[in-house]
Amino acid sequence: MTAPTSTLPEEQQIDRDSAFATDVLEGLARQPKQLSPKYFYDATGSELFEEITVQPEYYPTRTELGILDENGADIAAILPRGAALVEFGAGATTKIRRLLSQADFDAYAPVDISGDFLKAQAAALRQDFPRLKVHPVVADFTAPFDLPAAVRTMPRVGFFPGSTIGNFEPHEACGFLKSARRILGAGSLMLVGADLEKDERALYAAYNDAAGVTAGFNRNLLVRINRELGGNFDPSAFTHRAIYNRERHRIEMHLVSRKAQTVRILGQRFNFRAGESIHTENSYKYSLNRFTALAKGAGWQPRAAWTDAEGLFSVHALVASD
Ligand code: AVI
Repeated sequence: MTAPTSTLPEEQQIDRDSAFATDVLEGLARQPKQLSPKYFYDATGSELFEEITVQPEYYPTRTELGILDENGADIAAILPRGAALVEFGAGATTKIRRLLSQADFDAYAPVDISGDFLKAQAAALRQDFPRLKVHPVVADFTAPFDLPAAVRTMPRVGFFPGSTIGNFEPHEACGFLKSARRILGAGSLMLVGADLEKDERALYAAYNDAAGVTAGFNRNLLVRINRELGGNFDPSAFTHRAIYNRERHRIEMHLVSRKAQTVRILGQRFNFRAGESIHTENSYKYSLNRFTALAKGAGWQPRAAWTDAEGLFSVHALVASD
C-alpha cells in the first residue's frame, strides 16, 4: 500500500512501503551500515554508470568488448544456430549488438525490471536487425521468471556480461547461476563476463577515477534517498572510499561520514560518527579457476573461457549439465 505524505518538500509522493524504503531503513539501522548496490541505478545513476564505463581507469567494459570482438568467430562456433539470446538485465546495447552481428541468432529476449527501457531498446534493435525476433521480458532477473513460449521452443543462449555477477555475494552468484540454469533449461549455453583478480593498483584506480565519476555515482545514492524518501542527507558530508579487500577478493565501496551528524529519513533518525561508513557495494574479482568452480557448483560445465592479453577480464562459455 502507498502512503502519500504531504509534509515533505514539494508535496512529493513518498512510498513508505516500497522495497527501497524498507531496505534503506533496515540497512542504515545495521551495524555496520549498508545499502544495496541495486539502488544505484535510478536515471542519474544509470547515466553516471555509462560515464564510468568510458573513464580511462575503468578497464572492464572496453576489455570485455575487445574479448568479444577478438574471439567473435570462436564464440560463434560453439553457439547453436538459430538460437534465442536471453540477456539477464539490459543496459547499453553495445555488447549485444556485437554478439548479434557475429553469431546467427533468430531471437533476442532481454530481461529487465524496467519496461520502458526495454521497449526503447527493443525498438532500436528491431530497426537495426530486421530479421531478429525481439521478445522483451519485464521481470526481476534475479528471481524465477518464465521465458516467452516462442523462446522456449528454440535453442537458448544466456548472456550476463559486464561482471555484474561480481556485484552478487558468492552465495547469491551461485543462486543466480542455478536459477538461470533452471530458466534456460537442459542443453542451454550461457556466456558470462567476470572481472579477474589483478594488481591492486589497477583495481584501486578503476574505482577511484581521477574525474570523480565513481565518487558521484556512489554519492548519488544519497541524492536518490533524499528525493524518493524525503531524506535530508548532505551528500557533500560523505567521502567516497573504494578499497580492495584482498582476503575476500573484492573491491568495497563505502560512503564515509566526514563528521558526526544525524540524518532523518521517513521520520527515523540515523546517527553517524565522524569516520563511520555506509557500505554501498562489493565487486568480487575471480580467478579463472574460482569462477569455473562457482559455475560447476551451480549446474554448469565450463566449455571455454577467453581473456584479453593482459589477463584483466574473462568471458566464460558454460553448458547446462545434465
Ligand atoms: C555494474 N558493475 C559490474 C560495476 C562494477 O565494476 O562492479 C559497478 C561499478 N561500481 C563502481 N564502478 C562500477
